[in-house]
Amino acid sequence: MIPVMRPWVGAEEAAAAAEAISSGWIAQGPRVAKFEEAFASAIGAEHAVALSSCTTALHLALVVAGIGPGDEVVVPSLSFIATANAARYVDAVPVFADVDEATQNLTPATVEPCLTPRTRAVILVDQAGVPADLDAMRALCEPRGIMVIEDAACAVGSVYKGRPTGAAAYLAAFSFHPRKLLTTGEGGMLVTADTDVAARLRRLREHGMDVSAAARHTSRQPVIEHYVELGYNYRMTDIQAAVGLVQLGKLGQLIARRRMLAQRYQKMLAGIPGVRTIADPDYGTTNYQSFWVLLPDDFPVSRDELLQRLAEAGVSARRGIMAAHLEPAYQGMRHDPLPVTEHLTARTLILPLYHDLTEPEQDLVVSVLVAGARTPDTTGALSGS
Ligand SMILES: Cc1ncc(COP(=O)(O)O)c(C=O)c1O
Repeated sequence: MIPVMRPWVGAEEAAAAAEAISSGWIAQGPRVAKFEEAFASAIGAEHAVALSSCTTALHLALVVAGIGPGDEVVVPSLSFIATANAARYVDAVPVFADVDEATQNLTPATVEPCLTPRTRAVILVDQAGVPADLDAMRALCEPRGIMVIEDAACAVGSVYKGRPTGAAAYLAAFSFHPRKLLTTGEGGMLVTADTDVAARLRRLREHGMDVSAAARHTSRQPVIEHYVELGYNYRMTDIQAAVGLVQLGKLGQLIARRRMLAQRYQKMLAGIPGVRTIADPDYGTTNYQSFWVLLPDDFPVSRDELLQRLAEAGVSARRGIMAAHLEPAYQGMRHDPLPVTEHLTARTLILPLYHDLTEPEQDLVVSVLVAGARTPDTTGALSGS
């Protein structure tokens, strides 16, 4: 079976993890600090704080932004559910905004109608790795006292206006889940330019302690720690960070290969009338974390039938980005109409794209779509031509 995604990990990562384990320091320690430094420098961010996931990074971003009960946080429904869930972790109300069809991201035009006097933050997602227009969103929000938090879960190594995505944000959260380009198994990073915020994030991830466990352990004097505010255990381990350091060294190669394979898909799929694929926006480049394809309304087979045919051909594809407002966990939550979101979630699929994907495998994937474009639908009517 051709998987939808396979992380590019191997002997080097295994050796790095083994070295961390044999060092005797396996929880958060010196390798996490090194990974943070290397990540901040790669992204061009002032501070990077390693966390257990992007979900916990989003939670802490909202905590340090001071978001709480009764506040409204505008989020795209068209995102992995963790984006909306984060607002609920701080007892705020997620307010679903629609997205732009080309980028699948929020824009000022989709967010503005959702703003109320209670809006305190917008979580701007770089969906599937396509950078969102952060400057435009900040121009809408900041004069109104609304904070923009970037959910760059998928966007490590994407570029926004000449800088790595996330570098320009006040707070940007990344994921290192294996579906992403750079993986640590599970893991996340929150980057910020604010030194005080970074210090607070380091405390919050470690139970609200004023001295880190690593610092206490290496001190030559007894240290009595204090717990200065409600905190969490959102730490990354040194084993994960050791893997992350190796992965970070490969990021350039990972992106170059993704972009080459993505271009190949784009060229081959351009021959199917009406099919649209993920592409770079005007102001930046994507890392192609996911390669989505939008089927035209008159495509001869349904999206789900196409997924079935791909599976029968040995290809594990996925439905497109989910829409949180359609899930039972969000039932009853009021929202304005979300026509673009509903269209995209129903008509898109995600094709396999990963570092080791071969050209013959890609050809097989495309051949199923090409055959689908020519196939009569279940009622026997030919369409799409
Ligand atoms: C946009 C977005 N935000 C947040 C997350 C959550 O990331 P993690 O699995 O690291 O918690 C994901 C994961 O897929 C995501 O795609």
